Amino acid sequence: MFTLTHSKPYKIFNQSCYGLSVLDDNTIDALITDPPYGISYQNHYWDKDLPDKQIWADTLRVLKQGAFGLVFSSVRLMHRLMVDLEDNGFIIKDVIFWGYLNGMPKSRDVALDIDKELGVESHVVGEYDYVQGYKKGGAENYYATKKKLKRTPCSTLGMKYKGAGLGIKPAYEPIILVQKPLEIGLTVAKNVVKYGTGVLNLEQTRIPYAQGEGKVGHNPHPQGRVTANILRVEEWGDGYDKFFVVPKVRQSVDTFNKHPTVKPIELMHHLVNLVSFDGQLILDPFMGSGSTGVASVQLKRRFVGFELDNDYFKICQKRLRVSKPSL
Ligand SMILES: C[S@@+](CC[C@H](N)C(=O)[O-])C[C@H]1O[C@@H](n2cnc3c(N)ncnc32)[C@H](O)[C@@H]1O
Repeated sequence: MFTLTHSKPYKIFNQSCYGLSVLDDNTIDALITDPPYGISYQNHYWDKDLPDKQIWADTLRVLKQGAFGLVFSSVRLMHRLMVDLEDNGFIIKDVIFWGYLNGMPKSRDVALDIDKELGVESHVVGEYDYVQGYKKGGAENYYATKKKLKRTPCSTLGMKYKGAGLGIKPAYEPIILVQKPLEIGLTVAKNVVKYGTGVLNLEQTRIPYAQGEGKVGHNPHPQGRVTANILRVEEWGDGYDKFFVVPKVRQSVDTFNKHPTVKPIELMHHLVNLVSFDGQLILDPFMGSGSTGVASVQLKRRFVGFELDNDYFKICQKRLRVSKPSL
């Protein structure tokens, strides 16, 4: 296939992943990927459609029996992606919810549209500062504001629908956990002995107890709780912060990385740890800026990845060149 060495434990390809023809059958220990969501995110050309479902058949072919996979998705289209994965032989095991609080609902004030539709002038009740967008560096760092008129509906129907909108606030990203079936006739233990795959790495993904917190359960594990299918970008202080907390990426942290959907390395560490063990080979067919690869190398895994776009591929090369096993 290709040789990976101690000093260069990864191989990346600047080409379409479809076919995965450079990879042999039954050779990959785990899949971690963030494919196009098919929602035309910020109008990016590569996000117009979900991946052709053939890629999941290709992926199943190269994964070892019993291997696990994690596939990022979007709330609106994860059902289609799950069907594509299942139709191509994967078992759907779970969906991890990565929750966040700073999502913006896509909505508009429909009551004012109703006034307009009925030819009624809405009342002006003041002014407000309209923020035109945020710069890199976070919400406190925004583009100039502009004054806009604040209006309230005036027609009877407009008043009835005051405050009505089009969407609820997005607060999580789904990550689908899948598995290639075990070899027919093998128990989990026999599958692990034969291929090294078939189990999740729960030991390396435990959530440490909070300081001063008593251990929980009848037989508390010294390292902490078993990881849950909810992750959060920050603690929410609602009494349920027993989840792994992973902040979102702020673009300014890594200025040369211009990829619009870069995933945080801390999150990728958690995912790499969950579905693989030391020295195993991880595949990402849709690398983007290479976050799966960086986390894999840092955690002493081997990595193979594909990225179609030449500019993003150069970012992968640059990030991987300086990535060292460190954790
Ligand atoms: C959502 S992004 C991945 C971002 C990544 N998680 C990161 O942290 O940078 C998906 C990537 O898939 C790439 N892509 C789309 N179709 C592809 C194909 N057929 N083969 C390889 N890469 C493809 C796009 O160029 C895009 O960079």
